[in-house]
Amino acid sequence: MDDIPGSLGWPVIGESIAFIYEFSSPSGIFSFMNKRQQRYGKVFKSFVLGRFTVFLTGREASKILLTGKDGMVSLNLFYTGQQVLGPTSLLQTSGEAHKRLRRLIGEPLSVDGLKKYFQFINTLAIETLDRWSGRNVNVLEEVSTFTLQVIGNMIMSLEPSGREQEEFRANFKLISSSFASLPFKVPGTAFYRGIKARDRMYAMLDVVISRRRQGEVRQDFLESLIMKQAKTAGGEENDDKLTDAQLKDNILTLLVAGHDTTTAALTWLIKFLEENPPVLEQLRDEHRQIQVQRTEGTSLTWSEVNNMPYTAKVISETLRRATILPWYSRKAAQDFEINGYKINKGWSVNLDVVSIHHDPEVFTNPYKFDPTRFDTPLRPFSFLGFGSGPRMCPGMNLAKLEICIFIHHLVCRYRWKPLEKDDSVQPTLVRMPKNKYPVAVEPL
Ligand code: HEM
Repeated sequence: MDDIPGSLGWPVIGESIAFIYEFSSPSGIFSFMNKRQQRYGKVFKSFVLGRFTVFLTGREASKILLTGKDGMVSLNLFYTGQQVLGPTSLLQTSGEAHKRLRRLIGEPLSVDGLKKYFQFINTLAIETLDRWSGRNVNVLEEVSTFTLQVIGNMIMSLEPSGREQEEFRANFKLISSSFASLPFKVPGTAFYRGIKARDRMYAMLDVVISRRRQGEVRQDFLESLIMKQAKTAGGEENDDKLTDAQLKDNILTLLVAGHDTTTAALTWLIKFLEENPPVLEQLRDEHRQIQVQRTEGTSLTWSEVNNMPYTAKVISETLRRATILPWYSRKAAQDFEINGYKINKGWSVNLDVVSIHHDPEVFTNPYKFDPTRFDTPLRPFSFLGFGSGPRMCPGMNLAKLEICIFIHHLVCRYRWKPLEKDDSVQPTLVRMPKNKYPVAVEPL
């Protein structure tokens, strides 16, 4: 078995300083991976944040790691993420427990399960965009408010404005920023504030869950999970029964996994459209066609939103170019072999997805934004926008639905120009434009 090339850096700290430094650089963590790939090749080792770490890239490695090692690897969260999300989160379970949780949350997030949220999302997108006319807006902030209002309503029928929404938003922001923080749980640190905000969020959820258990009925995600339990309330063993702790851990998981990702994707998409006028024009044509075929005075319909072929390719191309989760991380639950290298139990194994998404053998002229790449099927494991295998994103239908609705109203009503030029990314786990993409908006 070959020895994995690479450097373990200094004793104890390893290469952690370089890792943290590159994380905050304009091109983010990719530059850490890229520099070492140039030196050592597609597979290299390092010692980062207290752990032996291996970085891999390529379609073969991704197939093995994402689909072929179920049970041999678990998701690898930072310590801060583990503490904030709680032990029964989907992201912290593996094997059978993971499969069961996926089955439970998969149904309400399926295309059919999402239909009941369509009107709410559509109205909210229109109202959000009503406020953009003739103004300068920070796209990332606006989109972040929109996606949080959507998911809060979908999960627990939270009203899009008012005191509860404000509290929810303030707590969520603190939780979100604690993920990439240093693991010091002392007052004043981002991690400490994140844990406290999580406790307040759980207290809010306790109130909502108890109202539901006392008979309040709502059409939302929480309801569908609680209803499953009620179906077999006759006393027999119920495989679908989740404790309150499991409900809370997993609701928070969906919020955390679904909010920044969708916000980033929608913001990058709006940025890429402005930078690629022919793509914007073709996209606008698709949406104008939908508009002209519609009876006057009516709004977008569920069947229209499910038939936007060019928009779907623009979304995929956005996820390829932006690669908002630049690496997928796993922890070896046992010793195993990959690409002729031995991985030891406990090691962190990471797939560099940015390189896979910019492989010139699969994507000619890889830095060009070109949705027609998705006209024909791609080679397996060359596009991993929503991942693959047992941990493939369960929220992808919701994300696509939100993006299609928002984009429809945006391109039918407005043109926009960036107020500054900056391509750097934020030092967060999810890659987002650092300057939040400020634009001037004008009606068409
Ligand atoms: C455009 C938006 C989104 C993108 C690009 C995205 C991307 C991904 C990717 C790549 C993974 C797999 C990561 C890995 O294998 O390590 C993933 C997992 C996950 N996503 Fe998404 N996601 C998005 C939206 C959402 C939404 C809206 C939700 C929830 C409502 C969500 C919930 C999750 C969860 C819970 C997991 C973990 C699944 C598991 O471990 O079994 N995501 N997502």
